[in-house]
Amino acid sequence: MDKEWTPHAEGTSLYIRPTMIATDAHLGVSASKTYLYYVLLSPSGAYYAAGLAPVGIYVEDSYVRAVRGGIGFAKTGGNYAASILAGVKAKHSGYAQVLWLDGVHQRYIEEVGAMNMMFVYEDKKIVTPVLNGSILPGITRDSVLKLAKKLGLETEEVRMDINDVFADIKAGKITEAFGTGTAAVVSPVNKLCFKGEEVGIGDGGIGKLTMKLYDTLTGIQFGKIDDPMDWIVKVK
Ligand SMILES: Cc1ncc(COP(=O)(O)O)c(C=O)c1O
Repeated sequence: MDKEWTPHAEGTSLYIRPTMIATDAHLGVSASKTYLYYVLLSPSGAYYAAGLAPVGIYVEDSYVRAVRGGIGFAKTGGNYAASILAGVKAKHSGYAQVLWLDGVHQRYIEEVGAMNMMFVYEDKKIVTPVLNGSILPGITRDSVLKLAKKLGLETEEVRMDINDVFADIKAGKITEAFGTGTAAVVSPVNKLCFKGEEVGIGDGGIGKLTMKLYDTLTGIQFGKIDDPMDWIVKVK
Protein backbone atom coordinates (compact mmCIF):
# COMPACT_ATOMS: atom_id res chain seq x y z
CA MET A 1 0.00 0.00 0.00
CA ASP A 2 2.84 2.37 0.85
CA LYS A 3 5.19 1.46 -1.98
CA GLU A 4 4.77 4.84 -3.70
CA TRP A 5 6.57 6.42 -0.74
CA THR A 6 9.81 4.90 -2.04
CA PRO A 7 11.57 7.75 -3.85
CA HIS A 8 13.23 7.09 -7.22
CA ALA A 9 14.87 10.41 -8.14
CA GLU A 10 18.67 10.64 -8.28
CA GLY A 11 20.25 11.08 -4.84
CA THR A 12 17.06 10.32 -2.90
CA SER A 13 16.65 7.34 -0.61
CA LEU A 14 14.33 5.40 1.63
CA TYR A 15 15.57 5.82 5.17
CA ILE A 16 15.07 2.66 7.23
CA ARG A 17 15.25 3.27 10.95
CA PRO A 18 14.72 0.42 13.43
CA THR A 19 13.47 1.86 16.71
CA MET A 20 12.75 0.44 20.16
CA ILE A 21 10.89 2.07 23.05
CA ALA A 22 9.83 0.90 26.51
CA THR A 23 6.06 0.42 26.86
CA ASP A 24 5.47 -0.43 30.54
CA ALA A 25 2.71 1.81 31.96
CA HIS A 26 5.13 3.23 34.49
CA LEU A 27 6.71 6.57 35.29
CA GLY A 28 10.18 6.16 36.73
CA VAL A 29 13.77 5.18 36.03
CA SER A 30 13.87 1.41 35.73
CA ALA A 31 14.16 -1.27 33.08
CA SER A 32 10.90 -1.92 31.27
CA LYS A 33 9.45 -5.43 31.05
CA THR A 34 7.77 -4.70 27.74
CA TYR A 35 9.12 -3.05 24.61
CA LEU A 36 7.84 -2.04 21.21
CA TYR A 37 10.17 -2.62 18.29
CA TYR A 38 9.17 -0.94 15.05
CA VAL A 39 10.84 0.15 11.83
CA LEU A 40 10.29 3.60 10.39
CA LEU A 41 10.57 3.96 6.63
CA SER A 42 10.84 7.53 5.51
CA PRO A 43 11.47 8.99 2.06
CA SER A 44 14.52 11.20 2.14
CA GLY A 45 15.45 13.97 -0.30
CA ALA A 46 18.92 14.33 -1.84
CA TYR A 47 21.35 15.40 0.89
CA TYR A 48 23.39 17.50 -1.52
CA ALA A 49 20.79 19.28 -3.65
CA ALA A 50 23.52 21.59 -5.01
CA GLY A 51 26.37 19.04 -5.05
CA LEU A 52 28.99 18.07 -2.47
CA ALA A 53 30.10 21.09 -0.42
CA PRO A 54 33.06 21.31 2.00
CA VAL A 55 32.29 22.54 5.52
CA GLY A 56 34.17 24.16 8.40
CA ILE A 57 34.18 22.36 11.76
CA TYR A 58 34.53 23.62 15.33
CA VAL A 59 36.58 21.40 17.66
CA GLU A 60 34.50 21.25 20.85
CA ASP A 61 36.76 21.35 23.92
CA SER A 62 34.15 21.92 26.59
CA TYR A 63 31.05 19.78 26.02
CA VAL A 64 31.35 16.04 25.32
CA ARG A 65 28.96 13.78 23.39
CA ALA A 66 29.59 10.45 25.09
CA VAL A 67 31.95 8.87 27.60
CA ARG A 68 33.81 5.59 27.96
CA GLY A 69 31.52 3.01 29.56
CA GLY A 70 28.42 4.87 28.39
CA ILE A 71 26.22 4.48 25.31
CA GLY A 72 28.14 6.42 22.66
CA PHE A 73 28.41 3.31 20.47
CA ALA A 74 24.60 3.11 20.06
CA LYS A 75 22.00 5.21 18.25
CA THR A 76 20.35 6.14 21.55
CA GLY A 77 18.26 9.30 21.99
CA GLY A 78 20.26 10.52 24.99
CA ASN A 79 23.46 10.79 22.93
CA TYR A 80 21.78 13.20 20.54
CA ALA A 81 20.23 15.26 23.35
CA ALA A 82 23.71 15.77 24.78
CA SER A 83 25.02 16.96 21.42
CA ILE A 84 22.50 19.66 20.50
CA LEU A 85 23.80 22.65 22.46
CA ALA A 86 27.38 22.29 21.18
CA GLY A 87 26.03 22.05 17.61
CA VAL A 88 24.07 25.28 18.06
CA LYS A 89 27.15 26.97 19.52
CA ALA A 90 29.26 25.88 16.53
CA LYS A 91 26.66 27.22 14.09
CA HIS A 92 26.59 30.59 15.89
CA SER A 93 30.36 30.76 15.43
CA GLY A 94 29.99 30.12 11.69
CA TYR A 95 30.85 26.41 11.62
CA ALA A 96 28.67 23.63 10.21
CA GLN A 97 29.25 21.13 12.99
CA VAL A 98 31.29 20.04 15.99
CA LEU A 99 34.30 17.76 16.11
CA TRP A 100 33.88 15.74 19.29
CA LEU A 101 36.81 14.92 21.54
CA ASP A 102 36.82 12.02 24.01
CA GLY A 103 35.01 12.53 27.31
CA VAL A 104 37.95 11.56 29.55
CA HIS A 105 40.99 13.52 28.31
CA GLN A 106 39.17 15.85 25.90
CA ARG A 107 42.08 15.28 23.60
CA TYR A 108 41.36 12.33 21.31
CA ILE A 109 39.12 12.73 18.27
CA GLU A 110 35.84 10.78 18.35
CA GLU A 111 33.25 11.89 15.75
CA VAL A 112 32.08 14.87 13.75
CA GLY A 113 28.46 15.90 14.40
CA ALA A 114 26.52 12.65 13.84
CA MET A 115 29.19 11.20 11.55
CA ASN A 116 32.46 9.34 11.83
CA MET A 117 35.63 11.27 10.99
CA MET A 118 38.43 10.40 8.57
CA PHE A 119 41.69 12.10 7.62
CA VAL A 120 43.72 11.45 4.46
CA TYR A 121 47.49 11.48 4.94
CA GLU A 122 49.72 12.35 1.98
CA ASP A 123 47.04 11.48 -0.58
CA LYS A 124 47.33 7.77 0.16
CA LYS A 125 46.43 6.75 3.71
CA ILE A 126 43.06 7.04 5.42
CA VAL A 127 43.26 7.38 9.19
CA THR A 128 40.21 7.27 11.48
CA PRO A 129 39.74 7.07 15.25
CA VAL A 130 39.72 3.49 16.48
CA LEU A 131 36.38 2.29 17.90
CA ASN A 132 36.58 2.65 21.67
CA GLY A 133 33.02 2.20 22.95
CA SER A 134 32.08 5.88 22.86
CA ILE A 135 32.33 6.13 19.06
CA LEU A 136 29.40 4.91 16.96
CA PRO A 137 30.55 2.17 14.55
CA GLY A 138 28.87 3.63 11.45
CA ILE A 139 28.14 1.43 8.45
CA THR A 140 29.51 4.16 6.16
CA ARG A 141 32.75 4.21 8.18
CA ASP A 142 33.05 0.46 7.68
CA SER A 143 32.14 0.67 3.98
CA VAL A 144 34.64 3.48 3.29
CA LEU A 145 37.45 1.58 5.04
CA LYS A 146 36.68 -1.56 3.02
CA LEU A 147 36.35 0.35 -0.26
CA ALA A 148 39.56 2.28 0.38
CA LYS A 149 41.46 -1.01 0.79
CA LYS A 150 39.89 -2.28 -2.42
CA LEU A 151 41.05 0.92 -4.17
CA GLY A 152 44.61 0.19 -3.02
CA LEU A 153 44.77 2.78 -0.24
CA GLU A 154 46.26 2.20 3.19
CA THR A 155 43.89 2.48 6.14
CA GLU A 156 44.60 2.89 9.83
CA GLU A 157 42.35 2.90 12.91
CA VAL A 158 44.18 4.55 15.79
CA ARG A 159 43.70 6.91 18.73
CA MET A 160 44.09 10.39 17.20
CA ASP A 161 45.32 13.27 19.39
CA ILE A 162 43.80 16.57 18.21
CA ASN A 163 47.13 18.34 18.86
CA ASP A 164 48.96 15.93 16.51
CA VAL A 165 46.22 16.24 13.90
CA PHE A 166 46.42 20.03 14.04
CA ALA A 167 50.21 19.87 13.64
CA ASP A 168 49.85 17.42 10.73
CA ILE A 169 47.37 19.72 8.98
CA LYS A 170 49.74 22.68 9.38
CA ALA A 171 52.68 20.57 8.10
CA GLY A 172 50.64 19.61 5.03
CA LYS A 173 50.71 15.89 5.94
CA ILE A 174 46.92 15.76 6.17
CA THR A 175 45.72 16.44 2.65
CA GLU A 176 41.97 15.80 3.02
CA ALA A 177 39.38 15.29 5.77
CA PHE A 178 35.78 14.15 5.69
CA GLY A 179 32.90 12.84 7.77
CA THR A 180 31.05 9.62 6.90
CA GLY A 181 27.37 8.82 7.48
CA THR A 182 24.38 7.30 5.72
CA ALA A 183 22.65 10.56 4.79
CA ALA A 184 25.61 12.50 3.37
CA VAL A 185 27.75 9.43 2.50
CA VAL A 186 30.87 11.61 2.80
CA SER A 187 31.02 15.24 3.88
CA PRO A 188 34.28 17.04 3.00
CA VAL A 189 35.84 19.17 5.76
CA ASN A 190 38.00 22.10 4.63
CA LYS A 191 38.82 23.81 7.93
CA LEU A 192 39.03 23.13 11.66
CA CYS A 193 38.88 25.65 14.48
CA PHE A 194 40.52 24.59 17.74
CA LYS A 195 40.92 26.87 20.77
CA GLY A 196 40.41 29.98 18.65
CA GLU A 197 42.85 28.97 15.90
CA GLU A 198 41.59 28.05 12.44
CA VAL A 199 43.51 25.89 9.98
CA GLY A 200 42.58 25.13 6.37
CA ILE A 201 42.81 21.59 4.99
CA GLY A 202 44.09 20.94 1.45
CA ASP A 203 43.18 23.62 -1.07
CA GLY A 204 39.80 24.29 0.55
CA GLY A 205 37.91 22.34 -2.13
CA ILE A 206 36.72 18.73 -2.27
CA GLY A 207 39.67 16.36 -1.98
CA LYS A 208 40.40 13.93 -4.83
CA LEU A 209 40.06 10.82 -2.66
CA THR A 210 36.98 12.18 -0.89
CA MET A 211 35.32 12.60 -4.29
CA LYS A 212 36.47 9.20 -5.50
CA LEU A 213 35.08 7.46 -2.41
CA TYR A 214 31.79 9.37 -2.74
CA ASP A 215 31.46 8.51 -6.44
CA THR A 216 32.35 4.85 -5.87
CA LEU A 217 30.03 4.31 -2.91
CA THR A 218 27.06 6.11 -4.47
CA GLY A 219 27.84 4.46 -7.82
CA ILE A 220 27.48 1.05 -6.14
CA GLN A 221 24.34 2.14 -4.25
CA PHE A 222 22.60 3.32 -7.42
CA GLY A 223 23.79 0.41 -9.55
CA LYS A 224 25.80 2.66 -11.88
CA ILE A 225 29.01 0.72 -11.41
CA ASP A 226 29.80 -2.89 -10.64
CA ASP A 227 29.53 -3.86 -6.99
CA PRO A 228 32.87 -5.54 -6.22
CA MET A 229 31.89 -5.93 -2.55
CA ASP A 230 28.64 -7.88 -3.01
CA TRP A 231 26.72 -5.26 -1.03
CA ILE A 232 23.74 -4.84 -3.38
CA VAL A 233 20.66 -6.89 -2.65
CA LYS A 234 17.79 -6.97 -5.16
CA VAL A 235 14.43 -6.38 -3.47
CA LYS A 236 11.78 -8.33 -5.35
C1 LIG B 1 26.47 9.59 16.29
C2 LIG B 1 26.59 9.04 14.92
N1 LIG B 1 27.81 8.71 14.47
C3 LIG B 1 27.99 8.20 13.22
C4 LIG B 1 26.92 8.00 12.38
C5 LIG B 1 27.15 7.43 11.02
O1 LIG B 1 26.68 6.13 11.00
P1 LIG B 1 26.19 5.45 9.63
O2 LIG B 1 27.36 5.45 8.72
O3 LIG B 1 25.79 4.06 10.07
O4 LIG B 1 25.04 6.27 9.13
C6 LIG B 1 25.63 8.32 12.80
C7 LIG B 1 24.47 8.13 11.92
O5 LIG B 1 23.33 8.28 12.27
C8 LIG B 1 25.45 8.85 14.09
O6 LIG B 1 24.24 9.18 14.54
